Amino acid sequence: MSKVNYAEMEKKYVYGTWTYQNKWSPRVIVSGDGCYVTDADENRILDFSSQLMCSNLGHGNKAVIKAMMEQAEKICFASPSFATMPAALLGKKLAEIAPGDLCKSFLTIGGAEANEAAIKIARMYTRKPKFISRYRSYHGASSGAIALTGDPRTQYAVGMPGVVRAPDCYCYRCPFGKTYPGCGITCAEYIDEIIKLEGPQTVAGVVIEPIVGSNGILVPPDEYMPRLREICDENGVLLIDDEVMTGFGRTGKMFCVEHWGVSPDIMSMAKGISSAYLPVGATMTSRKIAEFFDQPENNFSHGQTYANHPMCCAVSLATIEEYEKKKIVQNAAKMGKVMEKKLNELAEEHKSVGEVRGKGLFWGVELVRNRDTKEPFVSRPARADPNMLQRVSAEAMKMGVYVNNFINTLIIAPPLIITEKEIDEGVRAIGEALKLTDKETR
Ligand SMILES: Cc1ncc(COP(=O)(O)O)c(C=O)c1O
Repeated sequence: MSKVNYAEMEKKYVYGTWTYQNKWSPRVIVSGDGCYVTDADENRILDFSSQLMCSNLGHGNKAVIKAMMEQAEKICFASPSFATMPAALLGKKLAEIAPGDLCKSFLTIGGAEANEAAIKIARMYTRKPKFISRYRSYHGASSGAIALTGDPRTQYAVGMPGVVRAPDCYCYRCPFGKTYPGCGITCAEYIDEIIKLEGPQTVAGVVIEPIVGSNGILVPPDEYMPRLREICDENGVLLIDDEVMTGFGRTGKMFCVEHWGVSPDIMSMAKGISSAYLPVGATMTSRKIAEFFDQPENNFSHGQTYANHPMCCAVSLATIEEYEKKKIVQNAAKMGKVMEKKLNELAEEHKSVGEVRGKGLFWGVELVRNRDTKEPFVSRPARADPNMLQRVSAEAMKMGVYVNNFINTLIIAPPLIITEKEIDEGVRAIGEALKLTDKETR
């Protein structure tokens, strides 16, 4: 029997995302087990980026699959106008584990929808039109979410009136030319300035990724998030925390803002909420927002067919129970220390590593042609394809390790169940692949 080429078939009939179609050469993945996936040629590949930084539990988790099958036997879908056991239990569980007084959720099928809901809820609640987001950010591909986004994926997006972009919190390349700790956290103070100049009476919210994800794993100094919380409070503006990538143990805490004891007014999440076993997202709101919508005059004017989807909710609930039962977040914190040490050793050995930064199992390795000038291999928008970072990832893949990259940074975010031996395997392959960039570093 001739072997069907599913890569060619998919390429012909299905759009590859965010890519030139003629250059897309996908690998066919057929199965997964723990931190590994297997392709159609039976290559076993260490998944060092949890696919799209979302397979937090790893692949083939039996408890989640069982929950999915059991719910499928009962009922796969109910209109969101009905209540279901999985939606009720997931909402309650999220309220128990979320920081501060976040207590009520709108349950979606992904991160972009969660951010769309966040935008709508913030506008309904504040009756104000504007949002401040940052340049190096990604919030999703749908109209509102891509308008908040500041990275090159905004190409062809028409934008949304009222979005004002703020400079990033990026100490390695400080937009203000300053150096921490003597900088006075200008990147936070400048957001205060923007709000004042725009008029606090016009700004609904400040939308941030607490650690910027695909745009370079940018970790803020410890003072940044608490100060941003104060600035929002002083100006009567909502703090909207996009934890789509950072949530559910990725950074060694259940939610990233917990590192700084900060609680947002609205928090969006997806990816790790279900470990990607099914598409799930959520927008959580604080008690004061929930109470606002309890008032008879305030309609919650938002929804979608697949809101509160019972299959998605059952899978998400089982995922969170696995995180708790198997102490997955604690493992992420513990293995995060191992990862940190090994990546710092890698930086010592390879002159093309400009900076290693991250928390828990969420790490970025930024590559440079010259450590003194910090000249990047790839600036935005990327001009060559495949660019140097893509070539490094391809080289690691030849050694059986999948590592994601975006613009000038390798993104290392393995499943949170990873062991020290698997970390060794992944870091070793990246080290080999970095010989490519080392050769071009002065
Ligand atoms: C921080 C952040 N927000 C939102 C999104 C959008 O999520 P989705 O792709 O599920 O729509 C992403 C996706 O990568 C993300 O990283």
